[in-house]
Amino acid sequence: MGGMSTENEISLKSANSILCNLDREKYEIYPIYIDRKGNWWNFKFKNENDILEEMLKTKNIIKNQIEYLNNLDVVFPILHGKYGEDGTIQGLLELLKIPYVGCNVLASSVGMDKIYTKIIFNQAGLKQAKYEYIKKNKDKYIYIDKNFSETELELKEIVNKICKNITFPMFVKPSNSGSSIGINRAIDIKELEKAIIYASQFDNKIIIEQGIEAKEVECAVLGNDKILVSCVGEVKSAEEFYSYNAKYDNKESVTEIPANISNDIAEKIRKQAKQAFKAIDGKGLSRVDFFVEKHTGEIYINEINTMPGFTNISMYPKLFEKNGVKYKDLLDRLIDLAFEKL
Ligand SMILES: Nc1ncnc2c1ncn2[C@@H]1O[C@H](COP(=O)(O)OP(=O)(O)O)[C@@H](O)[C@H]1O
Ligand SMILES: [Mg+2]
Repeated sequence: MGGMSTENEISLKSANSILCNLDREKYEIYPIYIDRKGNWWNFKFKNENDILEEMLKTKNIIKNQIEYLNNLDVVFPILHGKYGEDGTIQGLLELLKIPYVGCNVLASSVGMDKIYTKIIFNQAGLKQAKYEYIKKNKDKYIYIDKNFSETELELKEIVNKICKNITFPMFVKPSNSGSSIGINRAIDIKELEKAIIYASQFDNKIIIEQGIEAKEVECAVLGNDKILVSCVGEVKSAEEFYSYNAKYDNKESVTEIPANISNDIAEKIRKQAKQAFKAIDGKGLSRVDFFVEKHTGEIYINEINTMPGFTNISMYPKLFEKNGVKYKDLLDRLIDLAFEKL
């Protein structure tokens, strides 16, 4: 839990719920906290009423991470974002031959990188918002076309090129991001320039997307080969879009399960969620997010999260709860799936 990404705190919230709900009769739990600098710590976990913040006060540094990991039977990487959800920690566990919960290296890295997610989804025939792809290189920008040819341009030229292909409002995102960090909505050229400069602080790869006026809906998948797909849930952002603040701080953002959409659309979304998971070669779990366009009912896939938020009020467990899988059982199933992957 924790991790070196901008989502360190979110991970701790998920981990806290998971720690409290793992069956203590069944599992001996060795919590590992990775701090923002990348130091690994262990700490005592006594009972399910312990508060993570308190537990962390007793933490001890883990000097030899590999040795520590080698004593474990299975790892549950409750990490979001860079160095956690992107295939790196998964690669370490592969090397050590330790079973772990969730997606393997490839699916994790594809799911983490918005550009490469789009390329795979496109190949799978899944409809998505139109987008442009650029890179930042020192003070210059590189426009990358669909054949991956690169053209170095000034910001003004890049922006003009983008405006020829997509219209406002646009969404500007660092390719590697999560929890909406680094993402902005732009309604004119000035905002677009600002949003590109801002996004480039988080990643040198930037994606600019056609904004869609839509309901935001999410669907959870569970399994390795045989996939269980949940019902569809809806997120109702209290703000103009589902920003970091709207996700975690604004109490007026709400979720609705099931989503207020027709059965026909819900079925299509469930089918696409499974297809998306298969397309990235997902394992274990993922939450697949979609837009349903307001006036047309058109479905656009937005992204796949290979380690979705996992507090007991998070969308992923809530969706399965609606389908009759309790939070505790979900954890057991995920751990079983980790062993089944091998
Ligand atoms: N093309 C788009 N049209 C409309 N809203 C969008 C679009 N892309 C992103 N958003 C808004 O921004 C939020 C965060 O974008 P998302 O791609 O899901 O990034 P993250 O991985 O950080 O969750 C979405 O939940 C949605 O509210
Ligand atoms: Mg999202």
